Amino acid sequence: MSVHQNVKKVTTHVLQEMKNAGEKITMLTGYDYTMARIIDRAGIDVILVGDSASNVMAGHETTLPITLNEMIYHASSVVRGVDRALVVVDMPFGSYQGNSKEALSSAIRIMKESGGHAVKLEGGQEVLESITRILTAGIPVMGHLGLTPQSIYKFGTYVVRAREEDEASRLIEDAKALEAAGCFAIVLEKIPAELAAKVAKEVNIPIIGIGAGGGVDGQVLVVHDMLGINNEFSPRFLRKYHNLFQEMMGAFHRYIEDVRSGDFPNEEEQY
Ligand code: KIV
Repeated sequence: MSVHQNVKKVTTHVLQEMKNAGEKITMLTGYDYTMARIIDRAGIDVILVGDSASNVMAGHETTLPITLNEMIYHASSVVRGVDRALVVVDMPFGSYQGNSKEALSSAIRIMKESGGHAVKLEGGQEVLESITRILTAGIPVMGHLGLTPQSIYKFGTYVVRAREEDEASRLIEDAKALEAAGCFAIVLEKIPAELAAKVAKEVNIPIIGIGAGGGVDGQVLVVHDMLGINNEFSPRFLRKYHNLFQEMMGAFHRYIEDVRSGDFPNEEEQY
């Protein structure tokens, strides 16, 4: 029997066993109780309460505005819907970059107030001190390298990262530093597939990709994107498993028509 079929609760150790056994890790974002419940029942391994909630749930242009309190609200809703999956919570912009003490107190608030199982934060060697301090408190940390959306104003664009040799070697060094510090996994976002596969080979902890090709240990997508709810976002790496935008539009149109025409509610739909 494969590792994932054998577990009632996914832990960071299970993810490591999956990598060791060559089993792919599945991860989706989730921001609320109802969606998390469905994703968990489908058998996903990890639910990421991503700071993409800033875009997807709150309509901000970037991930920067979402607050620690808002992340805790989303994460606690997700935790209530989950029985099996590991719940990883993004540390929002500004909650860990200042100094490592502030990073630790933000991570402690996330763990205490949301019930999440681990935190994720963006960056390599520049945030190593924060990562080390959080790990020392017994909080598992997932790293995030490549395209790191919290630095969008530094990058200026969401194009593929680490195409050039110097950025690629820095990324490999960062991945090794995160592993050495004790991170349990790393997300690699929007980098060349060849580079991502190299990192997955050279680093022993699980590497989860988004726009990073198939040579890594697992994949993550934003749930609203893969369901096709957002019809304005179609990057090359995104596979849409549904066109929920159209399905939902159809349902809303039919409801509006039925109410206007007096067809809803009918005899059976009233007391
Ligand atoms: O916030 C998010 O959704 C993420 C994923 C894109 C990995 O960090």
